[in-house]
Amino acid sequence: MLRMKIVTILGARPQFIKAAPISQALKNEFDELLVHTGQHYDFEMSKIFFDELDLKEPDINLGIQSTTHGDQTGKMLAGIEVVLLEHKPDFVLVYGDTNSTLAGALAAVKLHIPVFHVEAGLRSFNKSMPEEINRMLTDRVSDLLFCPTSNAVENLHAEGIKQGVFLTGDVMCDAAIYNVELAESKSSIIESLDLTPGSYYLATVHRPANTDDQLNLESIFNAFGSLDMNVVLPLHPRTRKALNEFNVPVPEGVRAIDPVGYLDMLILEKNARVIITDSGGIQKEAYFLGVPCVTLREETEWVETVETGWNRLVGADPEQIVTAVQNAAVQEDQPDLFGDGKAAEKIVDLIKSEYLV
Ligand code: UD1
Ligand code: UDP
Repeated sequence: MLRMKIVTILGARPQFIKAAPISQALKNEFDELLVHTGQHYDFEMSKIFFDELDLKEPDINLGIQSTTHGDQTGKMLAGIEVVLLEHKPDFVLVYGDTNSTLAGALAAVKLHIPVFHVEAGLRSFNKSMPEEINRMLTDRVSDLLFCPTSNAVENLHAEGIKQGVFLTGDVMCDAAIYNVELAESKSSIIESLDLTPGSYYLATVHRPANTDDQLNLESIFNAFGSLDMNVVLPLHPRTRKALNEFNVPVPEGVRAIDPVGYLDMLILEKNARVIITDSGGIQKEAYFLGVPCVTLREETEWVETVETGWNRLVGADPEQIVTAVQNAAVQEDQPDLFGDGKAAEKIVDLIKSEYLV
């Protein structure tokens, strides 16, 4: 039988992690062409994940690096269109909410190629976030919408999007479950940073609202400097650049390190006393790993983590950050909010049942 062809579009760090379990599940029955837009390009923002997650090398890398939103998304749209015209896939698969996601979805829908969106239905209801625009537009043009949570399904229904919507669980949960064991045996980050499990905070910062606003950036770093334990901070390149530009010093007690690979990250997360972040993926990983989280944002797409008491939203307010971090506690209940670790299988089964005759 002729195998169907899928083009997968990725470009940014979290997309490599999301794509790994699905790529694995697609292998037996589909031909997958991996197209990297080039949105992330440093070794530790891109290549390291392909190596660690056993994700095949991208078949095509468009090499479209950092620039303005319109320019970046436009170049991606044009580049992806050329690939789709040449390879004529049966479907296009996109992940999450980055500019690469939107460019992939738009390029495909304009060529009448069905679009499948993994991590559909998430909303922050804050249109100043570039991701919110990317998510809303991608969902609007997608044919199959794979939702990680029931809240995501409800968000789509509320926008009148009902066709092709499925609750599948979260592929990041699949990835964390599969890789945490591997990480335990392979990672030596705790030893190499000379950390004591449970005696440090792990932080990440990269949202434009925090990095591009000098006051917010200063407030966050001041708060980190007033905490009662050391902070380990794998620094996103965007944040490193902003700290330099605004001349914001990294306080004593904050260990700013280069971004780490996924296996080291899981181990740093698992052994942290509290995780402090503005990342979407890391809020969820804190929950999967049973670590309390404090989120440096005013709102979150992952509302379930807040409702269950595992996550607190504090924005960039230094007093709130310090109080929330020092009071953060492990909760008694940790229901399966993000599925059972088999989201990728469910997604591939759904693609087969909807599109293979
Ligand atoms: C992007 C996504 C965001 C996601 C994040 C994951 C969009 C609009 N944003 O944000 O949703 O949460 O990725 O990490 O798609 N840079 C480097 N090296 C790299 C990559 C980036 O130095 O390998 C620097 C560049 O100076 C660039 C800045 O980081 O200007 C931001 O990169 P960009 O891809 O535009 O956005 P992110 O903030 O990474
Ligand atoms: N991550 C990583 N190394 C780091 C920081 C993050 O491997 O130094 C992983 C993290 O474990 C999660 C994903 O990258 O799986 C989250 O990506 P990011 O925070 O960049 O983006 P977001 O989820 O906010 O879109």
